[in-house]
Order: sequence, then C-alpha cells, then structure tokens
Amino acid sequence: MTTTQEAVTAAERCTPEFRRDPHAVYAHLRTAAPVCPMRPPHGNDTYLITRYDDARAALSDPRLSKDMYGAMDAYRRIFGDSSVALDDNMLNSDAPKHTRLRRLVNSAFTPRRVEALRPRVEEIVQSLLDACPTREPFDLLPGFAFPLPIIVICDLLGVPPEDRSRMQHLSTTVAQTGFGEEAKRAQQQAEGDLHAYFTELIGAKRDQPGDDLLSALIAVRDNDDGLTESELVSTAFLLMFAGHKTTAYLIGNAVHHLLSHPAQLRAVRENPELVRAAVEELVRYDGSVESATFRYATEDVEYSGTLIPKGALVQIAISSANRDPQKFDRPDELDVMRPGNAQDAHLGFGHGSHYCLGAPLARMETQLALTRLFDRFPGMALADPAAGPRWLEVPFPAFRGLAELPVVLDPAG
Ligand code: HEM
Repeated sequence: MTTTQEAVTAAERCTPEFRRDPHAVYAHLRTAAPVCPMRPPHGNDTYLITRYDDARAALSDPRLSKDMYGAMDAYRRIFGDSSVALDDNMLNSDAPKHTRLRRLVNSAFTPRRVEALRPRVEEIVQSLLDACPTREPFDLLPGFAFPLPIIVICDLLGVPPEDRSRMQHLSTTVAQTGFGEEAKRAQQQAEGDLHAYFTELIGAKRDQPGDDLLSALIAVRDNDDGLTESELVSTAFLLMFAGHKTTAYLIGNAVHHLLSHPAQLRAVRENPELVRAAVEELVRYDGSVESATFRYATEDVEYSGTLIPKGALVQIAISSANRDPQKFDRPDELDVMRPGNAQDAHLGFGHGSHYCLGAPLARMETQLALTRLFDRFPGMALADPAAGPRWLEVPFPAFRGLAELPVVLDPAG
C-alpha cells in the first residue's frame, strides 16, 4: 500500500526542479508509490497513476468516469466553483453521450481527410519559415511552433484570420489558471469571452455558412440528433484549444531534443522516411501531454494494490507511463530507430475511447514542421546550449512544454 509519506502535492509538481526533470520523480514513484495520493490545495482525494500497465488500463476503465457533471462535487472540492460553460463536449462525457458527440466530428479527422489538408499545411509551414530571421537568436515557439497549429485549426474551424491571436491569448489564460483568486477570475473571464466569441461566430455562420467544420457542425446541430447549442460552443472550443497548444508544445520539445541529440537528428536528416517513427519516439520520450485529463471513480477501484475510493479523482501520468522500463527498453534514451515503437505502443495520444481525435493531424503537422525546418536550415542550433531549457511551470501539469526555445537558424550546413 502507498503511504501518505509518498504523497506528492500539486504544488510540488510545479516547482522549477520538478519541471526540469519530472522523469526522475516519476521513476521513483513507479517503484515506491505507483498509485500515489496527491494533495491538491482543496483536499486529498486525488490519485496519480504512473505505471504503463496501470495507465493503459485506467485510460479505458469504464469505472473511471469522464462525465464532468457527475464529478462536479469532487471537482469543486479541488478547484472551487468554476465555469463549465465550455466543458459540454466529448472530452468531459461518457458513452452514450461521448459516442454521439465524437461521431459527429470524427469524419473531419480521419487519416484520409487529414491527408487532403497536407498541401495547405505545407504552404503554411513554408510561409512561416520564409518570415523567420536567420543567423540571430530567435524564439521558435512564438515565431513558428505556435502559429502553425493555430492557423491550421482556425482555418479548419472557420475562425477568421484576424481572430487567431485572440484565440491563442484566451486559450493561454484558460490553460494557465492557478489556485489563487486572481488566476481564477482571469480564467473565468477568458472562458466567458471564448463562450461569447463562439456563440457569436456560430450565429454569423448560421446566417452565412462557409466551407468549414463549424458550418458543417451547425448543419448537423440543426438536424434532430445533432448537437445542442451548448455542445456546439463547447466542441468548437475543445477543437480550437486541444488542436493547437499540444501540437505547438510537441514541435518545441521535438526540436529541442533533436538539436540536443545530434546523432538522432543526423539519422532523420539522412533518411527522411524516418520522420514518422521519429515523431512517435519524440511523443514517447517527451510528449506535450504530461497527464491525461481528470477521471473520477464511480466505485472503489484498485490499481497496483492501492485502493482508489469511490468519488476520488484520478490523474494518469502519461509522461511517466511512456518511460516505464517494464514496457520500454532503455526508456530514458531517445532512439528514433527504436524497434516496435508503433503508434499505439506509447500513450502520448491517450488510449481507449478518448484516444486523441486529432492525432492524425498532429502527426502530419509535426512531421512536416520538422522535415521542412531541418531541410531549410541545416545549420540550425540552440542559441545558448549551455543555458539549458526553460520548461513551463503550470499548476496541475497537463502540458509538458517549453516556455521559450531560442535558436539560431542558419541556411548553411
Ligand atoms: C501533439 C499533439 C497532441 C497531443 C499530444 C494530444 C494528446 C491527447 C490526449 C492524451 C488525449 C486524451 C486525453 C484523455 O484521455 O484525458 C487527447 C484527446 C483529444 N484530442 Fe488531442 N492531442 C494532440 C493534438 C490534437 C489536435 C491537433 C486535435 C484537434 C484538431 C486534438 C483533439 C483532441 C480531442 C477532441 C480529444 C478528446 C477526444 C475524446 O474525448 O474522445 N488533439 N489528445
């Protein structure tokens, strides 16, 4: 059984030391406390799962619910009252509602539909790279990694270009909420603004439909078994939010790790076909989603000998599962030629019915971003390798990403 001495606090997982190397802490927890009680500020009823087998099972365990409305008591104990105006979507629901909401959006994200977007993504990548300054320090996150997925998802949804930076700014406020009153107020304000924005945009598209996903969803909504207005607004928000931050942080992590592992980068450059496997390995090694979204126990459940009582919240540490030596040989090594690291070996895109809907799009964007970046700037390097990376510090780590990525882009090899 796990002892309370092994409990980690939410705050501990946000310290700069932890952010710098969460993998060392997770390695300890996998052995000493694989299902570890956590102490968030509002109580002690959250459990952190760190082993691969437990994580994979928990991600598809029907006793661990994703129904936000069912979890509201537990949720309020931890976060206090918060708005759920944008949460009425597939990520916060169980079957059969989840099945219905996911089915309505699914057809836009099949590998075939995503492949059809490739020329447009290629064009965006090239035009962003055209605008990057060379031979001087340049932060690749705001200059390339963020604009790429935000442009792609806004185009797909039908969000006008002039609103992209507002979307990015409001999403950042929603994601970086803390436990303090001020942070909570800022989050609620941003959620309210996003709700108002999408309500208005949906109204405009109802009057004048475009050739975009939001207009297609409105057409379904206006049929009988379509989305309710609240589901429509929340789904638009989910796609916009999940569709850019995760991909932007993955591109940043991937570039940082490839530049820090020259032999791995050389292997990918010498064999461009390897980029697909490389992206899977980079998702495994240091993917951008550190923890899955909360689940809550609808009955007592047991994992690795630890009882998770009914009503408790559960966090699944994907980053830890992906470094579990019981599953992966030499888990702490980045190896783009790792045998058998197929798309479904790592848990970087989740597992089970909530498996990432946007995975084909995220893969395509990241593969193209890396290929074109390293083709165009063979002499690219970290601006100050000795400085070490600066990781994001966010409460309740869900994202694993860099706060900045200063590089020098050099077109000469
Ligand atoms: C590198 C980029 C990405 C990563 C690492 C990632 C990761 C994940 C993970 C781990 C989950 C499961 C969460 C859980 O079970 O708690 C998830 C779900 C989801 N992702 Fe992604 N994601 C990425 C990009 C995208 C993109 C580009 C989109 C949309 C365009 C997207 C849309 C979604 C949606 C809608 C869900 C909820 C699916 C459901 O509840 O059935 N994601 N993602």
